Amino acid sequence: MALKLNIGLLAVSLSLALVHLDGASAGMATRYWDCCKPSASWNNKAPVYAPVDTCKADGVTLIDPSQADQGQSGCNGGNQYMCSCMQPFNDESDSTLGLGFAAFSAGSESETDCACYYAEFAHDGQGKPIKRNKLLFQVTNTGGDVQSENIDFQIPGGGLGAFAQGCPAQWSTPASQWGQTYGGVSSASQCSNLPHALQEGCQWRFSQWGDNPVLKGAPKRVRCPKSLIDRSGCQRKDDNTVSPYSGQVDSGNTAAPAQYKRNRSVCLGGKKESYGAPGTGGSHVQPIGYGSGNGGAAEGSNNGAGQGAGDKPAPGANNGAVSPSSNGGGSAPQGYSPTKPSVPKGHKKHRVCQWE
Ligand SMILES: *[C@@H]1O[C@H](CO)[C@@H](O)[C@H](O)[C@H]1NC(C)=O
Repeated sequence: MALKLNIGLLAVSLSLALVHLDGASAGMATRYWDCCKPSASWNNKAPVYAPVDTCKADGVTLIDPSQADQGQSGCNGGNQYMCSCMQPFNDESDSTLGLGFAAFSAGSESETDCACYYAEFAHDGQGKPIKRNKLLFQVTNTGGDVQSENIDFQIPGGGLGAFAQGCPAQWSTPASQWGQTYGGVSSASQCSNLPHALQEGCQWRFSQWGDNPVLKGAPKRVRCPKSLIDRSGCQRKDDNTVSPYSGQVDSGNTAAPAQYKRNRSVCLGGKKESYGAPGTGGSHVQPIGYGSGNGGAAEGSNNGAGQGAGDKPAPGANNGAVSPSSNGGGSAPQGYSPTKPSVPKGHKKHRVCQWE
């Protein structure tokens, strides 16, 4: 297995070299929404109070982090998916500022999972201005060992990418309704083909954003806004050592204090929490995903095949190769990362299948 892994990584390096030749010196924001359990939803990836939320197929019911590692991503035959709440949204006081979640590989997962960054964009991929040219985003996924200056931003209808089985499995809809595998739907009206819960974020791309906007400089780490933690459930234990974003934000987007108690109602639209009831196979889970102190530093064992597998569809690629306590050790567990070096042409991007 280790050998296969290495071969996969070699292929990645080669294809990446081409990407760089192709002019990726100015990073950009590509996009995806594959419905897979985010890589940062596995425990012990990084020093966090609790990992990123992962949900049942309804996109709302949280899976208890203490049980999540016993299951699998919906992209790997399991029933754990991306939560619908983790779509882009707007700051209400600055009409040029958007927020959301992304795969970003500025460092190892241990260093970047659940960290927040501020990015500015010059224009879209065609040189046209975009309305929300500033972005606060939290890292939920990774590019693994791939050095990429790109952000792969989570936008529903942004393309299923290499894990095209996740959304059809989660929502019982054909892959064709999600648009092109790389790039996704091509108009706001096509967003109506998506599950209702995802349509708003899909439309956001067309009204507020653009096609592969080009970064103005490298994203800068900032302390996470409350709003992002409300939606992801994840806060790094080192986050209060980082300066907040200094620009104007509405009250929900101000920086979170340490051990911030997330406001889960932000994701529930005022409704009551809808965890699976005990005895129905649902996960009877604490809505407050953190402050519980059982996050990244726990030594729990990543027992069993396929665990730590992010949204990796192939089981077991990390068996034996991965130490769950490797966070902090610099050697991020291999094999689980739904890595995605982004191809700078159009909105295509090639996500890496390290297990292939
Ligand atoms: C939590 O979020 C809900 C929905 O956005 C909001 O109405 C409520 O005021 C928030 N509660 C707190 C304590 O911030």
